[in-house]
Amino acid sequence: MTTDKLTQHKLHEMIRVNHAGELGAQWIYEGQLKVVKSPELKATLQKLKAEEQVHLNYFEQEMKTRRVRPSALYPLWKWGGRALGAITALAGEKYAMACTEAVEEVITSHYTEQLNYLNLMAPEEHKLLSAIQKFKEDEERHHDFAQEQQPPETLPLKAAKKAISLITKAAVSIAKQI
Ligand SMILES: [Fe+2]
Ligand SMILES: [Fe+2]
Repeated sequence: MTTDKLTQHKLHEMIRVNHAGELGAQWIYEGQLKVVKSPELKATLQKLKAEEQVHLNYFEQEMKTRRVRPSALYPLWKWGGRALGAITALAGEKYAMACTEAVEEVITSHYTEQLNYLNLMAPEEHKLLSAIQKFKEDEERHHDFAQEQQPPETLPLKAAKKAISLITKAAVSIAKQI
């Protein structure tokens, strides 16, 4: 593969994984919203979900223009995301927010890696760079917000965040390939 083809391949991989991730975010919030009773938390989740929808729309459009195939594991992201959302919301409000915190921590560093790559290998991709930069800032804000909403960290909360972080990391590396 030539360098150009490699970069092209990598760009497609980025768009595919980001699309899958933003889709996963929709399903997580969807799963949480089905379970949550508190009107305040519902409003918060709806607001976060709407912001993630902007990210999703962007990558959906990029997939169309660049003819990127979507992740073949669409049903897994859908049902996995939904299940993660439902389980964390059933466990309680603090777990719902812990889920956002843990996922966003992984996604923020994932977007940072992509920004580093693009700056180095494809600096001509101005639009993609500024979109990912903006989304990364959104995810950081979501992370900080979710963290502020939680009580001081207990052992089970810490364990839950660790587990969610591992699941998210695994999902990211799978979605890159498949
Ligand atoms: Fe997002
Ligand atoms: Fe986010």
